[in-house]
Amino acid sequence: SKPTILVTGGAGYIGSHAVLALYDAGWPVVVVDNLSNGSREVVPDEVPLIETDIGDAAAMRAVLKEHRVGAIMHFAGSIVVPESVTDPHFYYRNNTVASHALLGAAMEAGVRHLLFSSTAATYGAPETVPIDEDAPTRPINPYGWSKLMTEQMLRDVAATGAINYGALRYFNVAGADPKGRSGQIGKGATHLLKVACEAAVGKRSHVDVFGTDYPTPDGTCIRDYIHVADLAAAHVLALEALIADPAESFTFNCGYGRGTSVLEMLEMLDRVNGTPVKRVLGPRRAGDPPQLVAANRRLVERLGWQPRFADTGTIIESALSWERRLFQKEAAVCA
Ligand code: UFG
Repeated sequence: SKPTILVTGGAGYIGSHAVLALYDAGWPVVVVDNLSNGSREVVPDEVPLIETDIGDAAAMRAVLKEHRVGAIMHFAGSIVVPESVTDPHFYYRNNTVASHALLGAAMEAGVRHLLFSSTAATYGAPETVPIDEDAPTRPINPYGWSKLMTEQMLRDVAATGAINYGALRYFNVAGADPKGRSGQIGKGATHLLKVACEAAVGKRSHVDVFGTDYPTPDGTCIRDYIHVADLAAAHVLALEALIADPAESFTFNCGYGRGTSVLEMLEMLDRVNGTPVKRVLGPRRAGDPPQLVAANRRLVERLGWQPRFADTGTIIESALSWERRLFQKEAAVCA
């Protein structure tokens, strides 16, 4: 029978989609989330949600033992690149230091498998795209460093045989559960598609385009947008691989290997939505590399990952219908 999986940050955006993927596949799941950015509503009622901080090692040891956790998917953390530039100390505490505490609790409780949410930000501003996993890791913002340091910690601990781990380096995660059960919540949204969808439903007046003078065809940054449901499916495969071969650890990029510019995303959103969102062209934002596109051969070959929602229109539609639903809910609460 399947061991119980602890999902940290399981009430957050990506974590909740992983919870749904595990839940749909019949895995016993328990969620730990401090609800700083997550929401109870996106976690299925049948899944226990413990409101605790992963940095609290004693509390985490208790959770791991009580629920007889067999493996951890570790999503909890902060993810906003510009925020990490203005408050690096917070990022190292909330990402690196908290992961260190969680790892300690896992080792004491005898949990031997850990799947870690890492990021393309570990590569910094790569010289060539697509980026493969052997590319140099030279982050250009504290967020990337906070994740890379955690990867290093996991690598060194795994070398002792205490655990095995998978580091999944996400490119730009977007979209929402195709069944409408979860999506991006988050107050003070900063991610491009989220912001653009908020503008499309009328929650904000416009979208700022941060930088039009990058060395790219249309001058705006290029990213590899991956549907959150395809990413969640990759997590289940990665988890199975960790459990199947406890001697093997791995690092995989998670993206489609396709680059889309900021302006191209906005154009596609307009097409899906039917009415254009207002763009305000402006200066660059701190910490943004011009291009991030994944080489995903390892993920595809080693895990047999088969994306189902790669079409950009599909990604945008799911994000937009989630945003419309949120908007209606908020309107109902205000009425
Ligand atoms: N952008 C805008 N206007 C906005 C928001 C974003 O022009 O209102 C631009 C950004 O400048 C950037 C692109 O859209 O060029 C994507 O920005 P996001 O904020 O959506 O995402 P990031 O690329 O900054 O970061 C995301 C995740 C990170 C991850 C990274 C890896 O937040 O965790 O993707 O590619 F590391």
